[in-house]
Amino acid sequence: MPLARILRRSDMQWGDQMDIMKIYETMDYGTAPESTDEANTWLAEKNRKFGHFINGDFVSGTDHFETINPATGTTLALISHATVSDVDNAVAAANTAFTAWSTSSGFERAKVLYALARNIQKHARLFSVLETLDNGKPIRESRDIDIPLVHRHFYYHAGMAQLMSKELPNRAPIGVCGQIIPWNFPMLMLAWKIAPALAMGNTVVLKPAETTSLTALLFAEICMQSGVPGGVVNIVTGDGGVGDMIVRHQDVHKVAFTGSTDVGRKIRQATAGSGKSLTLELGGKSPFIVFDDADLDSAVEGVVDAIWFNQGQVCCAGSRLLVQAGVADKFHSKLVNRMNKLRVGDPLDKSIDMGAINSQAQLNRIKAMLSSCDTAKMITSDTHIPNVGYYHPPTLIRDVETSDTLMQEEIFGPILVSTTFRTPSEAVELANNTRYGLAASVWSENINLALGMAPKLNAGVVWVNGTNFFDAAAGFGGTKESGFGREGGWEGLMAYTRPNNEHRKKADYSIQVTDVNRHISINRTYKNYIGGKQSRPDGGYTKQIMDPSNAATYDIPISNRKDLRNAVEAANKASGWSSSTGHLRSQILYYFAENLSARADEFATLIDVFKPNGISGADEVQATLETIFECAAWSDKFDGDVRNVPMRGLALSLNEPVGTICAFAPREHALLGLVRMIASSIAVGNRLIIFPSEINPVIAGELIQVMETSDIPAGVVNILFAKHTDVAKHAALHMDLDAIWCEETASIVSIIEEHSATNLKRTWTHVNTSTDIREFLDHATEKKTVWIPWGEG
Ligand code: NAI
Repeated sequence: MPLARILRRSDMQWGDQMDIMKIYETMDYGTAPESTDEANTWLAEKNRKFGHFINGDFVSGTDHFETINPATGTTLALISHATVSDVDNAVAAANTAFTAWSTSSGFERAKVLYALARNIQKHARLFSVLETLDNGKPIRESRDIDIPLVHRHFYYHAGMAQLMSKELPNRAPIGVCGQIIPWNFPMLMLAWKIAPALAMGNTVVLKPAETTSLTALLFAEICMQSGVPGGVVNIVTGDGGVGDMIVRHQDVHKVAFTGSTDVGRKIRQATAGSGKSLTLELGGKSPFIVFDDADLDSAVEGVVDAIWFNQGQVCCAGSRLLVQAGVADKFHSKLVNRMNKLRVGDPLDKSIDMGAINSQAQLNRIKAMLSSCDTAKMITSDTHIPNVGYYHPPTLIRDVETSDTLMQEEIFGPILVSTTFRTPSEAVELANNTRYGLAASVWSENINLALGMAPKLNAGVVWVNGTNFFDAAAGFGGTKESGFGREGGWEGLMAYTRPNNEHRKKADYSIQVTDVNRHISINRTYKNYIGGKQSRPDGGYTKQIMDPSNAATYDIPISNRKDLRNAVEAANKASGWSSSTGHLRSQILYYFAENLSARADEFATLIDVFKPNGISGADEVQATLETIFECAAWSDKFDGDVRNVPMRGLALSLNEPVGTICAFAPREHALLGLVRMIASSIAVGNRLIIFPSEINPVIAGELIQVMETSDIPAGVVNILFAKHTDVAKHAALHMDLDAIWCEETASIVSIIEEHSATNLKRTWTHVNTSTDIREFLDHATEKKTVWIPWGEG
């Protein structure tokens, strides 16, 4: 407390005592600045000029630009724009280092990650001050939140490295990871990216944001002190152009990005069809929901944390306040009162609440977004704002229409927009009325109401009576245009590993062919299967195919985008399936297997007639039945778990269905490939539209009859026949599909990855590398972390 500090001074003069009397009268805070000496010494040692960190050493850079202290507008240091050859060198170093690092033991990697954690902890003060100087965030936050979370992340992942071989025997590192991070949490985002990558045996080329490179460069120095082998971590600096070079580099195997949705979309397009694995953590417009029975004073403090933490430059900021109508006036008046007491100013002052906006460009962006706002609704804090540096006062805008840009777009500043709701279902509707799906906060003293909201909110993270809880053990990430993939916890490791070929169980496809000499010689006409009914294709066209022995002909529908639209509508109407019990879903899957088994010989014959390579029809049917059984078994056992976070309370990691998935089944193994996608996706509550094998669509035509008798509710599984290249683009562009699975040719994969960038739907295009049903279930599942603190405060 600054006042106490002043009172302790032994050399107090008469003037000082007068000051104290004044302070007693006004009860104003004094200042409590953090020292910058250590940070300035470090910068001076480097002549305030930096190059890149490549192959374990610093190399000098060219084309320097200034990094600015946003609190003062003064230059802190010069940072280099990496050239093509800098990026090439960094990627080459990472590739070379991968051989040894990926085969090192978990213990060896754990030791390195542990050393990183320890050394960051030892230099915590320097990291915090440097972060605040470069970013503008209050020292209270960088010191007490960002940097402690950074070393927690490295400690936690040291453990993951140690456990990998025993706990994840089916997973292997991916290779060189290109990692691009934003400026709002420079060191924390670096830790979120580098720690899991290294733990799993990958090497990295990381690019910090152009306005906040300094702590990443200090981290490079810590790598040298911590025994990180040369080339395992490489850091190149520069703007989006450098990021683009990393993304497109042919020797980068995985791209991990955190930043704006627009850039995320560009990266999705740039990596489409390249075979690179991708995770995107993008923007948000997260709801902060206050019910009339909430502890309103706690909820006000929650709002302060939700939108004024880090000046509101937080992807999961609770930037949309939804208050129940009965308490709206009372709540807003408490909130405005509190907002006016927030102190904005020098971020190095330990008693400041809000620091500076990260850059002039970001401040301009915020102001531009506010320029269209009706000023009558806008309440701006009357707190003092410094007249140098990039500051913006905390602001509340009331009664904003749901369609208003300010209600829909990420402002990324200290601006809260609010509206009211009457009932819990209206709150859900308003909360989900956004293209984003990152986080949500729910405030109510009624635990049933609050926990009942969690599954209904379309978000990767839900905080109950709290906000902005983060931990290495708890998954974080979004749905919809907030991106895909999770960071943290076991699920975060999925993004940095791939199925391990050596440990995979023998592919079911490798079973030997046994000839079967009979087949069905009847002509058949198939229809699409949409909303539980067989229907003719919209265009009325069919194509005739003949089995290879010329004994029978089959009329196969040719579907178009209208058929796809109808199927998506039917699937979305069947949303009740997603909230049905695992028990019910498993019963239906068992019944499906039973009905298929009754026609096993017939299916085996059909498979043999169409001559697949290397597997007998009877064996394929058997493998299919086993697969359905395996999915049925998992239906009521694919549990979430409770994460051990350092908090009094629970962090639940829940498995939820992704929603509506569109799948392109493989050309070969027409039954097993098709049913594996159907059974695994619906086992965990998804609805599916599936395009069966183009080579052998007959199997799917027959399977429709089996499905019709298996109690699968209408719309849960929809089967459409089409040439995959004709419909792939439409599926990828469809806004109501949540994910696409594709076990198809590279050209179809490429179409899907490129066009899915529109609404950034999840894509799984490496299906054919997996025979592990667990992996199918993981791809069919969205992780939601629900934080429930307990105790009286
Ligand atoms: P940005 O998304 O452009 O920058 C993030 C990172 O991506 C930086 O390292 C940047 O150099 C890099 N980058 C930019 N273009 C790239 C490209 N084509 N390929 C590869 N990397 C590229 O964010 P920016 O321009 O700094 O801020 C603009 C808006 O984005 C903000 O107003 C805010 O709304 C949003 N934003 C959201 C963040 C989040 O965590 N959700 C973080 C940063 C910004």
